[in-house]
Amino acid sequence: MDLYEYQARDVFEKHGVPVLRGIVATTPAEAKAAAEQLGGGTVVVKAQVKTGGRGKAGGVKLAHSPEEAEAHASEILGMDIKGHTVHRVMIAEGAKIAEEYYFSVLLDRSERRYLAMASVEGGVEIEQLAVERPEALARVAVDPTVGIDEAKAREIVETAGFAPEIADEVAGVIQKLWTVYEAEDATLVEVNPLVRTEDGAIIALDGKVSLDANADFRHADHAELEDKAAADPLEAKAKNLGLNYVKLDGEVGIIGNGAGLVMSTLDVVAYAGEEYGVKPANFLDIGGGANAEIMANGLDVILGDAQVKSVFVNVFGGITACDEVANGIVKALEILGDAAAKPLVVRLDGNNVEEGRKILAEANHPLVTVVPTMDEAAAKAAELAAAK
Ligand SMILES: Nc1ncnc2c1ncn2[C@@H]1O[C@H](COP(=O)(O)OP(=O)(O)OP(=O)(O)O)[C@@H](O)[C@H]1O
Ligand SMILES: [Mg+2]
Repeated sequence: MDLYEYQARDVFEKHGVPVLRGIVATTPAEAKAAAEQLGGGTVVVKAQVKTGGRGKAGGVKLAHSPEEAEAHASEILGMDIKGHTVHRVMIAEGAKIAEEYYFSVLLDRSERRYLAMASVEGGVEIEQLAVERPEALARVAVDPTVGIDEAKAREIVETAGFAPEIADEVAGVIQKLWTVYEAEDATLVEVNPLVRTEDGAIIALDGKVSLDANADFRHADHAELEDKAAADPLEAKAKNLGLNYVKLDGEVGIIGNGAGLVMSTLDVVAYAGEEYGVKPANFLDIGGGANAEIMANGLDVILGDAQVKSVFVNVFGGITACDEVANGIVKALEILGDAAAKPLVVRLDGNNVEEGRKILAEANHPLVTVVPTMDEAAAKAAELAAAK
């Protein structure tokens, strides 16, 4: 789960990372009141969206008075930044910036360790810097059994070339950012910019934090960080039904039992879809016990996606035999009635496959096509999606 900047700011503060005060506002009037509360001086109005490049898109604006903060907020609220609508702004205390730096630590899956990155040339052009002058971005491997201790923090600071006068303080802030990473079970902590102010303080002015959902059980407090409003409504519905569903951008809905099978189904549909110009529309794993109700719920979620033009049901009968799954599909179509109006391509294999196919053949539902192999079924589903 990715956090909003204001949530990252709170988490930083909790672990002693130096940050400036910030107040969230959802209306221009609230923004004005927040600016007054911060002393009436210079503030920055910052769009709270989970995407980068807010500043470049006009979503970060300096205001010299509460009235100006109100005016900026009315422009920024409702703005679209890379497909994300701005529902909240953060009114942050204005910093007098002398220099902007960059720091991040993230999970390096391929190397099975963490990676810290730092640069004395931080700010909004960091992506460009990483491409054009990669040597200006220090990359330091972090051993997961040690983490970023004092020695590692110094190594990062030295490799990045921070000036000796500020090296100690920056190293201290980096260690605190590591505390955030470790204590909160994050997979990313990024600060861009980390700044030195004119009076010499080192402060995190922006924060991106991604939390590892696999560690949610250790963090009861993380649940309230979740943004229910912004989540895809179908994803929310599937979650409530206990289904593992991820919305993608294509036209072929996919239902399978087991994550491995669903992932390989995504691959074959993507491959077959190339010929027809269609792609997988989602990932939906109905798990091991695919009874009629679960199948109906799964189909209901997928058919609720207006982008879906055809559905590929790919089931391998194991503990739940194919005849049960076939009955599930037939009953699901009964339950859904007219709500099921898109062609279904079904491929069954495994335990009791003959009985399963027989049940579907006898039901002879006009929307259902049974195809024996996964590749043929993927091609059929792609063809039907393209024909719609
Ligand atoms: N509190 C602040 N006081 C003064 N200047 C600020 C403050 N916050 C941000 N800025 C300035 O605005 C720039 C952009 O802000 P920020 O890093 O938060 O947004 P961004 O980088 O555009 O967004 P993102 O990190 O999502 O790409 C900073 O590099 C900094 O120069
Ligand atoms: Mg930034």
